[in-house]
Amino acid sequence: CVLDYPNKPSKTILDNLVDMSNVSDVWLTSQKESGSNITNKDSLIMKLRWATMGYNYEWNSRAYYDEMKSQFPSDLHELCRFIASTIGYHNFSAETAIVNYYHMSGDMGPHKDISEIDHDAPLLSFSFGQDALFLLGGLTKATKPVCLSLHSGDVCIMYGDCRLVYHAVPRILSADKDNLKHCYNFNEDSPYHGNKTSEENDPKSPDVSEGLAARRQEVQWGLFSQYVQCTRINMNVRQVLPPGGTNIADYPQPVCPSVNCKTGKTSSIHNDTEQTQS
Ligand code: OGA
Ligand code: MN
Repeated sequence: CVLDYPNKPSKTILDNLVDMSNVSDVWLTSQKESGSNITNKDSLIMKLRWATMGYNYEWNSRAYYDEMKSQFPSDLHELCRFIASTIGYHNFSAETAIVNYYHMSGDMGPHKDISEIDHDAPLLSFSFGQDALFLLGGLTKATKPVCLSLHSGDVCIMYGDCRLVYHAVPRILSADKDNLKHCYNFNEDSPYHGNKTSEENDPKSPDVSEGLAARRQEVQWGLFSQYVQCTRINMNVRQVLPPGGTNIADYPQPVCPSVNCKTGKTSSIHNDTEQTQS
């Protein structure tokens, strides 16, 4: 989520904020420019609030378009298919993901995710880093929400009666440090350990992408832990099309609720008091 997904072909908020024409690697650029203080508010990685992959969500119209589509990461596609199968949903096809990067003052307002054509498929939501309070409501705002704590490593699945309900993230909370160690404690045995050469890395390790393997040498993992200690990452994966579908243009688009279509806003539900997003 930090080393690969903020880079092309993903679309990110950074494309709207700064000139990205010479930036191919958001983390390494941030590392170079920020020295030992990667969590300063001006570093590129700290300005990152969202990245979209596969079908790139268009925030203003709240819709997906066939022309705005890139390759979905194949390892994440496989992982999601497996996770969906554990709840009895077979052949899940991950076609889009929004990766949300929250800092401690970040939140997400109440909303329903209705822009996908297929609402029978589950929505898979992965949490990493700091904790979140998550409110899960009903089909209208009249339903009193239940409050859940989402911790690093949790996968929250919105499926069936839950798929189209209102939900929100009103608060990010500090995580228990012990529960975070797996995010950044890269000991000698870890395939991610920075001092290993690519030959020494287990080539069978399924979760190391080629790009990451090549750049691993340059990553300063100490800075990575600095970042995770003030960030929550949520990877929100969705199937867009019904089984067998190939083009979104073949289907009527869900109507965009006008209240959420403020022209010029990058996102009407992503809030962060540290930074305006328009
Ligand atoms: C979303 C979403 C929830 C979270 O991206 O649509 O609801 O836990 N994210 O961050
Ligand atoms: Mn949502």
